[in-house]
Amino acid sequence: MKKQKLRVGVLLPAAGEGRRMGMNVPKQYLHLHGKPLLVHTVLHFERCEEIDDIVIIVSKGFENRVRRYVKKYSLKKVRSVVTGGERRQDSVANGWQDLKKYFPEIILVHDAVRPLITEKLIQAVIFSAKKFGAAVPVIQENNTMCVMGKGNVVSGYLSREKMRIIQTPQGFKKEIFVKSLQNAIAKKTAATDESSLVFQAGYPVKAVEGLRLNIKLTTKEDLLIIKNILRTQ
Ligand code: C5P
Repeated sequence: MKKQKLRVGVLLPAAGEGRRMGMNVPKQYLHLHGKPLLVHTVLHFERCEEIDDIVIIVSKGFENRVRRYVKKYSLKKVRSVVTGGERRQDSVANGWQDLKKYFPEIILVHDAVRPLITEKLIQAVIFSAKKFGAAVPVIQENNTMCVMGKGNVVSGYLSREKMRIIQTPQGFKKEIFVKSLQNAIAKKTAATDESSLVFQAGYPVKAVEGLRLNIKLTTKEDLLIIKNILRTQ
C-alpha cells in the first residue's frame, strides 16, 4: 500500500534588515554566482519532492522585487510573497496567515539567509516532524562556552557536552505550530526561533543532526565561506 503523503508548507522569513553586515542592500538580496542569495535558498525547497507550498516573507517595499524573482527563476511552489513584521516571530505569523490557505499538515520554517541547506537535511527534518511533532537540526559547539557578566568578566561556564546550536529548517505538525504561536501571543513571549515557542508551549522538540555548513549569513566572514561553497556547487 502506498504511504500517505502529508502536505508540507514552508515559511521563509526574509524580512530582516541585516544591519550587522553594514551593507547598503539587505544580505538576502546579494547576488552570488548569478542569483540573489534568497533565490539560492528557495531553489533547495523547490527541488525537494516533499515540499508543496512556499510563502516568502519580506520587508515592506521589497515585495515586488521578490515577486519578480519568482517569475524570473520560475519558482513554481512559491504561492505568495507577504510583508513581514517587526520581530522575526511577527514575520512568521504574517506568513502563516497566507500559508494556512493551502492546508499544510507539516510546516517548515527556514531562515532565508541560510542558502547552503541541503535536500537531505530538509527531508530529515520532515521525517522527524511527522514522527515526533516538532524537530530541529542541531550541531555541537566545539569551543568552551561561558556566560558573560558585568564589565566583561566571566560569570559562569556552560557544560559543552550538553550544549547544541540550533539551526533551521525547523519542522512542526500543524496543530503544535498553531497552538505554540497562539500561546506566544497570549503570554506575550518573545523568541528568536519557533522551536523555543513550541518548547514554551510545553511540547517536546526532537533534535536531528544538523550541518556545519548550514551557515546563517550574519557576518562578512560568513559571506566569504558561503561564496566559496556556492562556487563549488
Ligand atoms: O535576525 P535573525 O538573524 O534571527 O534572522 C533570521 C531570519 O529571519 C532572516 O532570514 C531574516 O531575514 C528573518 N527576519 C524576518 N523578520 C524580522 C527579522 C528577521 O523575517 N523582523
